[in-house]
Amino acid sequence: MPSQAKPNRAAWLEGSSNVCAPQPGPTHPWRLILLGAPGVGKGTQADLLSQRLGACHLSTGDVLRNAGQSVSEPTPAMTAARDCMQRGALVPDHTVWEIVRERSACIRCRGGFILDGFPRTRLQAELLNQLIADEGISLDAVVNYEMPIAKIVERLSGRRICKACKAVYHVTRQPSKTDGVCDTCGENLFHREDDRPEAVTVRMETYERSTAPLIEFYRDFGLLLPVAAAGSPEEICARTMEALQNRKS
Ligand code: AP5
Repeated sequence: MPSQAKPNRAAWLEGSSNVCAPQPGPTHPWRLILLGAPGVGKGTQADLLSQRLGACHLSTGDVLRNAGQSVSEPTPAMTAARDCMQRGALVPDHTVWEIVRERSACIRCRGGFILDGFPRTRLQAELLNQLIADEGISLDAVVNYEMPIAKIVERLSGRRICKACKAVYHVTRQPSKTDGVCDTCGENLFHREDDRPEAVTVRMETYERSTAPLIEFYRDFGLLLPVAAAGSPEEICARTMEALQNRKS
């Protein structure tokens, strides 16, 4: 499948009062959820899949980090959310749901969506099911990226992220061309606070307790598509595309 222009995500990252740059409508609006442990590569795959499928990459983590950086006087809810994120704990369901509900236009966008980091709890999954049903749309698949935790921790320790466009790099496996500078927009790269070892431990425990049960939840709906997350990002993306095409046909 040829690459498509990547949607610019303005309405998702900055809020519904922003308008995304118009995109040519894809032939099929893909509506996907990406599941998997923190650091397994969901964001990297969402970015690649977005280029292949033309669907927008919707990450709740990006929205929360963006809000934390851009608001000069954060609300109490945003201060609490930032504290949760730094510790590696989940942000309360009602805060996350406010963010998603405010952006429900992105869920019904005719370009489709690739949800990354949402839902993360049973309640969030049930609320999303209701929203999707209310909008009269349906999910194509829930891709679950699988990899042993020890390998994932190595990925997280070397991760660097662009402050502006959120592009993801790895210091050795996926380095930027100039050290510390984004290839795409030239902004500085940063090391996420929750990639410190103590926060990573909390994130993995939280994932096992709150998010891993969603694998069964979506299996019961017949939507689960397991994909091995070993190999290069391009290999994993090709594996995902093949699994999606097989499912579609
Ligand atoms: P979020 O931003 O969603 O983080 P996460 O789920 O912990 O996932 P990550 O972004 O850490 O990893 P990833 O799987 O996207 O991997 P990546 O592609 O970057 O959430 C952060 C926090 O926000 C949460 O802890 C929580 O506090 C809060 N939050 C967000 N959503 C929430 C919700 N719904 N409810 C409650 N709280 C919420 O890759 C990782 C690294 O590996 C990179 O360096 C990358 O370059 C490298 N890499 C990727 N693929 C490969 C490969 N194939 N080979 C080698 N290296 C690779």
